[in-house]
Amino acid sequence: MRRRHLLTLAAAGAVAGCAYGGSPRRANGAAAIEAPGGGASASPAELVFPRDFGWGAATSAYQIEGAAKEDGRGPSVWDVFSHEPGRIRNGDTGDVAADHYHRFHEDLDLMKDLGLKSYRFSISWPRVLPTGWGTVNAKGLDFYRKLVDGLLARGIAPVVTLFHWDTPQALQDLGGWENRDCAKWFADYAHTMFTALGDKVPIWLTLNEPKTVVDVGYTAGTHAPGKRDRQLANVVGHHLLLGHGLAVQALRGTNAKGRIGAALSLSPTYPADDSAAARRQATIADGEENRRWLDPLLLGRYPQDWLATQPADAPLRAAIKDGDLAVIGAQSDLLGVNYYGTTHVTGTGSRVMQHPTSQATWQEIDPNGLFDLLTRIKRDYGDIPLTITENGMATKNAMQDQDRITFLRDHLAAAHRAIKADVKLESYHLWSLMDNFEWAEGYTQRWGIVNIDFATQRRTHKASADWYKAVIARNGV
Ligand code: FCB
Repeated sequence: MRRRHLLTLAAAGAVAGCAYGGSPRRANGAAAIEAPGGGASASPAELVFPRDFGWGAATSAYQIEGAAKEDGRGPSVWDVFSHEPGRIRNGDTGDVAADHYHRFHEDLDLMKDLGLKSYRFSISWPRVLPTGWGTVNAKGLDFYRKLVDGLLARGIAPVVTLFHWDTPQALQDLGGWENRDCAKWFADYAHTMFTALGDKVPIWLTLNEPKTVVDVGYTAGTHAPGKRDRQLANVVGHHLLLGHGLAVQALRGTNAKGRIGAALSLSPTYPADDSAAARRQATIADGEENRRWLDPLLLGRYPQDWLATQPADAPLRAAIKDGDLAVIGAQSDLLGVNYYGTTHVTGTGSRVMQHPTSQATWQEIDPNGLFDLLTRIKRDYGDIPLTITENGMATKNAMQDQDRITFLRDHLAAAHRAIKADVKLESYHLWSLMDNFEWAEGYTQRWGIVNIDFATQRRTHKASADWYKAVIARNGV
């Protein structure tokens, strides 16, 4: 199933299903590290990270919480979408997911045991505001208050995402992000959260991957709300960015002490061959994959070459009002980077895979792309502090997930190289702490370092969890 990229997946079959055996070129000559097989005792790290590096893991609300109808939570677009026949593999839903809502104490202890310094999670907007605005659902807010307090008590920094795709259905009924007012509703909800938790949360992330909402939710139609309208999708993208900007403004107007930024899914784009046509297509793809998000957020403008690809009568043009880009581009304190892989395009603009994929066939695994991406952000957008907000791979349901260990090690080596090149990379959140509801793929794709037995909700370390624990303990790979 096409997940993210709009470019034609021309040669996916050539490599899909390839087992990932690690990057051919090891960064900095790092020696291979075997899974320690249980203990956190390990040999000294070869690539030592800065002393205060934020070793973390990430999740999102709809993917792990469950308790979809409990304690006054309202429905989101994902509740509605996942219950529509044929939308999700095997008819799975997030009704129960990893039951984190009921088991968060156990999950907090698990994080503490791993030694996490940072935990990225998202707030379910309709758990706090069941219809998206108005009266706060005290029980919903209380859950997040307890979660944040539980993290702080364990010395783990809460990194809070405000929007990880679960728009309240009541707002969707009013057009959701198609409606410009949604940016304002989002900022009001953000303000509620800043007021409630602003004295405790060090990092707020406004949006998670607006690109995926636009490309998958509104163009491919395989994510909620399941629409297929590219022109509308671009309007949605603009309103999401505006929501980000208004939320940043809202934070500045409170006493919240945290820093704020967006989390973008970014993919370096490369020509698949040496031809001028392929190089040109790679620039176009870069506009679509990266610059159309980075430029407004960090430079306060849409890239001219990208905007020029939009038809003269594109509704996006009318959606961009005077002053919007100043709001969107108002200074963020940091940028979250979700990195899953690179994109290669031919002279006709087709995407071809030049590296192995994971079980998720959209994912072209290329650790060096992470180095390129981080150093490119510094070069083109200045020295904004960065946090890797997601990075990981899907594997089969295996406890001995050596391929994931190789993946993580190679990507951490690339991150280390970027730090050595003076990139201000503060932290790393692997995706994901635990197996969870992987959107249209339901429970068929396993992204966690902790295995979830969805029948019993038993949590068990995979080999990668023990490995990561040892990495954190020795502060390096
Ligand atoms: C990212 C999403 C995250 C998860 C991973 C695999 O795009 O932000 O929720 O689905 O992909």
